[in-house]
Amino acid sequence: PDAETGVAGALDDLVVVSNREPYQHRYTEEAGVVVDTPVGGLTGGLDRVMRRTDGTWIAWGDSDADPSVVNAADCVRVPPGDPSYTLRRVWLGEDAVREYYYGFSNQVLWPLCHGLHGKAEFDRAFWERYRDVNAHFAETVAEHVEPGSTVWFQDYHLALAPRMVRQSLPAGTPLVQFWHIPWPEADTFRACPEGEALLDGLLGTDVLGFHVPEYCRNFLDCVARELPGATVDRDAGEVVYDGHRTRVRAFPMGVDAERIGDVSANTPDGFWESFRREHGVVGSTVAVGVDRLDYTKGIPERLDALERFWERNPEWRGELTYVQKATESRSAIPAYQRLGTEVRDGVERVNDRFGTDEWTPVVYLEEHLSDADLYGLYRHSDLALVTPVRDGMNLVAKEYVAAQPTTPGEAGVLLLSALAGADDDLGDDALTVHPSDTDGFADAIGEAVSMPDHDRDRRMCRLRSTVRTNDLDAWMGDVFAAVEGVRDGVGSVGTG
Ligand code: F6P
Repeated sequence: PDAETGVAGALDDLVVVSNREPYQHRYTEEAGVVVDTPVGGLTGGLDRVMRRTDGTWIAWGDSDADPSVVNAADCVRVPPGDPSYTLRRVWLGEDAVREYYYGFSNQVLWPLCHGLHGKAEFDRAFWERYRDVNAHFAETVAEHVEPGSTVWFQDYHLALAPRMVRQSLPAGTPLVQFWHIPWPEADTFRACPEGEALLDGLLGTDVLGFHVPEYCRNFLDCVARELPGATVDRDAGEVVYDGHRTRVRAFPMGVDAERIGDVSANTPDGFWESFRREHGVVGSTVAVGVDRLDYTKGIPERLDALERFWERNPEWRGELTYVQKATESRSAIPAYQRLGTEVRDGVERVNDRFGTDEWTPVVYLEEHLSDADLYGLYRHSDLALVTPVRDGMNLVAKEYVAAQPTTPGEAGVLLLSALAGADDDLGDDALTVHPSDTDGFADAIGEAVSMPDHDRDRRMCRLRSTVRTNDLDAWMGDVFAAVEGVRDGVGSVGTG
């Protein structure tokens, strides 16, 4: 069995398939080949898993595709410098990227699944390209699967590929999919003209995972409503469709809490003083927010709540500073461009209103932070504002907890949106926020900044225990225990 997850066999010959690749090779004349790691829980988390295998990770090659560059080969061994698995890149042309990635994935499925279907841009060309790219991924998967492999698809970019690939796999190959974003209620899902095909695609899997039970229930409701030929067993969490059984399960994703705790505990002496000096962070209390620049993350709502807090609590002006780390994301999409402008304008508005020569209320950072700096920032921040308007899980909440000091009197406070999947795990010991309720949100900030030490410590102690118990290995272990459960029957009806 694998030492960390306790699961036998499943990590051998693992084939992971995702849109985003874990390492991006960039080429410039001056620097030669430089390797970046993308932002996001999916790639970072799964890379830790893949390092323990000799498996294959198939992903869109969003690297420098200049064929004269050696690293633009279809297959490269990664991680760079300490290779342990194979990265197989699927190259996509500009039109495919525009219509499949920016189009159907991020202007249809992303808003739809986050319950914001009014933002969805339905376009036949997006859908057709999404189907073609899924077929391209499915063909690539078929090239890499051998008897004994497990195929693990990730996320909403690849809803059709499981059904497409199923026919070509050796008998007994388990197919798993983990959907990293919410699954919407049936009424919302109904807005999608291609809903039936999406459900049909996903029901090609043996195990379909979501972060929390609510998304599983929503998915089963959608199947019952949209696919008359399917038999849905809500109690067992199973669908039988077209002679095939799919188990629908909740696997709340975790973080590598031990590593984050170690990195944060080992931030060098003087880190915090120099970070504060460098970025102009003053005052007795620091709040932090770390997000991709995405309209689901609730950043404008957060700025409104902070503004209300400083408006009503003038004694905290000059004392509470908010550090917002934002990462540019999907910026070819107009809604993301608008959001970027709204956030930068919001920061300026608040800083113009309350800022002084000595104090900048909102310190806004778009620059890259190393893991050591990020976890150091979490460790020293007195509160974290993790307040998306909708989020599948939100691993920042778990990272913040994992990075907190264990010394009594030094624990921070987590403010967490009721609309993040992480609320299921962490809601009891975080301060719950409804991000659009500006007054309630401002009150919660007030409660957090004046919370007695013993209360902070008690809450953080329980949060830490939850985050450590339900970490990345536990998530993997749960997913692969479910895979082992189907390995012999591989989902055919009657094999339990
Ligand atoms: O599931 C959400 C996700 O797709 C994750 O990969 C990651 O957190 C983030 O969104 C990254 O987005 P993108 O791959 O579009 O940059």
